[in-house]
Amino acid sequence: MPNVIIRPARADDADFLADMVVAAVNWSPSDAHWTRERVLATRELAHYVVGWPRPGDFGVVALADGERAGAAWFREFPADDPGYGFVRPGVPELTLAVTEPWRGRGVGRKLLHGLLAEARARGLSAVSLSVASGNRAARLYVQAGFRVVGACGDSDTMLLTWPDNAPGRGAGPD
Ligand SMILES: CC(C)(COP(=O)(O)OP(=O)(O)OC[C@H]1O[C@@H](n2cnc3c(N)ncnc32)[C@H](O)[C@@H]1OP(=O)(O)O)[C@@H](O)C(=O)NCCC(=O)NCCS
Repeated sequence: MPNVIIRPARADDADFLADMVVAAVNWSPSDAHWTRERVLATRELAHYVVGWPRPGDFGVVALADGERAGAAWFREFPADDPGYGFVRPGVPELTLAVTEPWRGRGVGRKLLHGLLAEARARGLSAVSLSVASGNRAARLYVQAGFRVVGACGDSDTMLLTWPDNAPGRGAGPD
């Protein structure tokens, strides 16, 4: 296991977070054809990172042996500009990716757990995500407590709730 440090994502991580959106879009090695330019020119993909950080955004970056190796963050979307994993207003959506050389070495799990701890500490009562069918990442999300609540195209929408968190912050349990 490399030396991995999880720190809060900062404004000067914006370009790196854009790289991680591109990595997430190109999650399948057999179908990784999206260029950074095309991702950032496609509104429904670019809106995961455009303007980072917006009010309400929060995230974490992994430093592995001193270099940025991945990031995870939450952003809330309105109903008229939903993310692929949109559930309802007040439920922020996850983006998670690890740079190729660091995959499969525990960095993604550490990022996810660090970010979920922060979400819980902030009083959120629900968070969501979208994961393409066939992406092994789904297993990681199930292990973290997410469950499938819907579908969008060939992707599953997953939700994690903390019913014990303060009512009125984020969304309540289903
Ligand atoms: C998915 C991803 C974030 C997981 O991070 P990671 O550091 O590679 O994963 P970890 O080593 O922490 O392993 C945690 C779990 O992630 C999954 N995983 C591991 N390697 C993976 C890989 N190369 N691709 C997809 N998922 C992987 C597995 O479910 C693993 O759990 P398991 O070992 O019990 O099966 C990372 O592989 C990645 O960035 N993949 C491409 C982008 C992507 O798919 N992002 C998620 C979009 S929803």
